Amino acid sequence: MSAQKPVLLITGGAGFIGSNFLRYMHETYQNYHLVNLDKLTYAGNTANLDLLEGAVNYTFIEGDIADEQLVQRIFAKYDIHGVIHFAAESHVDRSIQDSKQFVQTNVLGTLTLLQVAKQDWEEKGVLKERRFHQISTDEVYGSLSAEGKFSEDTPYDPRNPYSASKAGANLLVKSFGYTYGMNIVISSSSNNYGPRQHTEKLIPTIISKALKLEEIPIYGDGKNIRDWLYVEDHCRGLDAIFHHAPPFSTYNIGGGNEVQNLEIAKTVCSLLDEIKPELLHENSLTSFQELITHTKDRLGHDRRYAVDDTKLRQDLGWEPQEALSTGLRKTVRWYVEQWEGVTAP
Ligand SMILES: NC(=O)c1ccc[n+]([C@@H]2O[C@H](COP(=O)([O-])OP(=O)(O)OC[C@H]3O[C@@H](n4cnc5c(N)ncnc54)[C@H](O)[C@@H]3O)[C@@H](O)[C@H]2O)c1
Repeated sequence: MSAQKPVLLITGGAGFIGSNFLRYMHETYQNYHLVNLDKLTYAGNTANLDLLEGAVNYTFIEGDIADEQLVQRIFAKYDIHGVIHFAAESHVDRSIQDSKQFVQTNVLGTLTLLQVAKQDWEEKGVLKERRFHQISTDEVYGSLSAEGKFSEDTPYDPRNPYSASKAGANLLVKSFGYTYGMNIVISSSSNNYGPRQHTEKLIPTIISKALKLEEIPIYGDGKNIRDWLYVEDHCRGLDAIFHHAPPFSTYNIGGGNEVQNLEIAKTVCSLLDEIKPELLHENSLTSFQELITHTKDRLGHDRRYAVDDTKLRQDLGWEPQEALSTGLRKTVRWYVEQWEGVTAP
C-alpha cells in the first residue's frame, strides 16, 4: 500500500459507472490510494478494471458492503478519507421480479457503510472533514409528463422497488448529515451510457441482440423518454462534487439529451448498419432496425425522466463534454470491438 496517500473507499467499482470512475480517478490523480470494495455479483466484472491491475495505488477487496465486520476491518486497516458509494443492485426489471436483495444491498448496505464510517471518523475527530458521497439516480424523483424537469428540491416519489430502495438509502444518508453532522453529499444522475455497462441494460442489449441477429425488444410503444449522460461526463461531475461541493449538498447530473427509447434503438441500429454492413448483407437485411420488436410494457414504467442540472453547472462549472451522437458512436464501436475482437471502422 502507498502509505502516505489519502485513501478513498470506492464501493461497487467493478460495475459500470464505478469502474469508469476508478479508471478516471487513476488517470486524473496520482495522490490517492483507491480501495475498491465490490461483491462481484452478476453485475461486477474485474475485467472492467484491467487498467488498474498491479497499480501500486489500487487495492481490490471482494466483499459485501452489508458485511459490517468486513467494512470495520477495512476502516481499521486503511485511514479512509472519503467514501464514494456506487455499489447497488441497479436493474429495475430485477427489482420488479424480486426486491429483497435491493433492500439488503441498497438500504442495509448503505446503512452499514454510514455507521462504520461515522464511528471511525468520529473516533478520529474528523467527522466533519471526511466525506461520504452517495451515488444516486434521478429515478428517486418519480416520473414526469411532457413538461418540466426534476430539480434538487423535487420531493422523492419513487415508482419501482429499485428507485424506492435508492430513495431509502438517500434518506438514511441525509439523516446521518442531520443527526450527526456527517459531511455527506448526494448526486443524482440521469441514465448513463458508455463502455463497460452490463448487457442487461438498454443500449448494450440493443447492440448484442443486433449482432446476434435476434429480435431487439423495446418495451411498450418505445416512447418513454430518458436523458442520456455519457459515463465519462458523469465521472467528471462526481469528481467536481466530491472535491468541491459544500457539505450536505445535493446535485443533479444530466446529459441534456432527452430521447425516446425507440429513437435510441434506431440510432444504435443505424450506427451498426455503418459498422457491420457485411452482417446485414449476409442476412438479407437492409438495416438492423428491422429487428426492433415491441414487447409488453414494463410494470409501472416511468414515462419520462429529465433533470435540471443548472446548480452543478453554476456552482461547480461542470458541463457535459460529449454529444450524444459522438458518445453513442464511441459506445457502439467499443462493444463491437469487445465482443467481436475486431477494430470497428
Ligand atoms: N447506470 C445508470 O444509468 C445509473 C444512473 C444513475 C445512478 N446510478 C447509480 O450508480 C451506481 C452504479 O450503477 P451501475 O450502473 O454502475 O451499476 P452496476 O450494476 O453496473 O454495478 C454495481 C456494482 O455493485 C456491486 N455490488 C452489488 N451489490 C453489492 C454489495 N452488496 N456489496 C458490494 N458490491 C456490490 C456489483 O458487483 C457491481 O460491480 C448505483 O448506485 C446506481 O443506482 C446508475
